Amino acid sequence: TQIFINRQNSEGVNLHIESMLQPFMNAVTGFVGKQWQGGPVVNGKTLNQGELVKVLCPQDHTQQVGSIYFADGKATELAITTAHQAFPEWNRTPVETRAEALEKFADLMEEHKHELIALCTLEAGKLLQDGIDEVREAVDFCRYYAIEARKLHAYHGPLAGPTGELNELFVQGRGVFACISPWNFPLAIFTGQVVAALVTGNTVIAKPAEQTSLVAFRAVQLMLQAGIPAGAIQLLPGRGAEVGSKLSSDERVTGVCFTGSTDTAKAINRALAGRDGAIATLIAETGGQNAMIVDSTALPEQVVKDAVQSAFMSAGQRCSALRVMYVQEDVAERILELLKGAMNELSVGNPIHYKTDVGPVIDSRAQSGLNDHIATISQSGKVLATANMPADTGKGSFVCPTAIEIGSINELHKEHFGPILHVVRYKADDLDKVISDINGTGFGLTLGVHTRNESKAAYIADRVNVGNVYINRNQIGAVVGVQPFGGQGLSGTGPKAGGPHYLTRFVTEKTRTNNI
Ligand code: SER
Repeated sequence: TQIFINRQNSEGVNLHIESMLQPFMNAVTGFVGKQWQGGPVVNGKTLNQGELVKVLCPQDHTQQVGSIYFADGKATELAITTAHQAFPEWNRTPVETRAEALEKFADLMEEHKHELIALCTLEAGKLLQDGIDEVREAVDFCRYYAIEARKLHAYHGPLAGPTGELNELFVQGRGVFACISPWNFPLAIFTGQVVAALVTGNTVIAKPAEQTSLVAFRAVQLMLQAGIPAGAIQLLPGRGAEVGSKLSSDERVTGVCFTGSTDTAKAINRALAGRDGAIATLIAETGGQNAMIVDSTALPEQVVKDAVQSAFMSAGQRCSALRVMYVQEDVAERILELLKGAMNELSVGNPIHYKTDVGPVIDSRAQSGLNDHIATISQSGKVLATANMPADTGKGSFVCPTAIEIGSINELHKEHFGPILHVVRYKADDLDKVISDINGTGFGLTLGVHTRNESKAAYIADRVNVGNVYINRNQIGAVVGVQPFGGQGLSGTGPKAGGPHYLTRFVTEKTRTNNI
């Protein structure tokens, strides 16, 4: 039991300490200009076939980061056959061997962290700090699930039964899992899904987001180096409409673990339901319409600091990010004045500079959708504050961080995945209406509460239907094993990633009744 108690999250890099900053910057910027190459990985081999796609940098579309072959139908078929055939042997491999492979993979990611952080910054436009956190989270998932799998697979009963009869309950892997991951956590979520499926005995076909295939490709190379057998992990970079839909419609794929939009999760669910064969498992982590409720007892400076972090860090491209801040009208003026000042200080720009606060959004399509939303909502709402946009942001997909006052969360008909904060004023007597409006969106991912009134915090936390409630702090950056992460309703199926129940959905239960 000692190892469970002593579990530690991986170490970070403090960029505020000069002696840590310089060597870190030198190591990461050494990768700028490198051209990474990748493709589908099937049975341990990289396939240089299919459509060759250029990978461009979100902060500067004239800068190429590398290129990647997207999987064609032949590669997809071969990946499914390979994973299907490899399952029985991997499933029978002792959990200790599988867990050790995850731990070795975690060590390798730490060893290669500068390259992985550089890739997160250049391919996904993430800030250096976000890249550091990304590698840490990926490492934490490996070490945490290794521990949890040892516990889960060690359990064998025995259960009570008549004399002479031995009753046991234990778990095994389900089969082949398709792991379909998003671009906003191209290493952490990619890794979390894949290693959870692997450590419980499943073989995996990983389909990374098309925008961030290179970092996933590097991760798979490190997994193979760590001793994960070639048959157990297949990588299929490609478009969702092609690769993803083939995976969901093939009966040999026993389960799908998906993180992305609610609409895509529903489409996968329909595809799984419509096919012949066994009933498939779906684990989906989707979007949110995340609110923060601020009452008149809250500390204004702290509210603003937490709201700015929650809404604008990672350019608002976190499923946990704050979208709608409800402020009690008695304190609204003061908070909005501070918000304006704080947004004025935000530094928008190239994420490779360590002082940048807000980088680009993922691509031009996301950029124009967000800018359209700002244009539309500002006709009925009132723009409260914007950040300053430096002149050199024209080559990339930047969106100006913006705060807009609106009447209610009901005016938003979908999640706007970027640096836009909506603000709503409410009267103290209307708290129940605020709660029912938030619940009325159907989403249920994160909620922030700012109040010094403990019973009010408990009242709100109890009534808003979300997966993660944060009281008097920011509402992003869930830590593995500390804030297991995931929502309810339109926000996903659970179980929570980085939590003690996550692995249970990747396994099937079996009892053995033995009379000797
Ligand atoms: N796990 C991430 C966070 O908590 C989700 O986007 O911010």
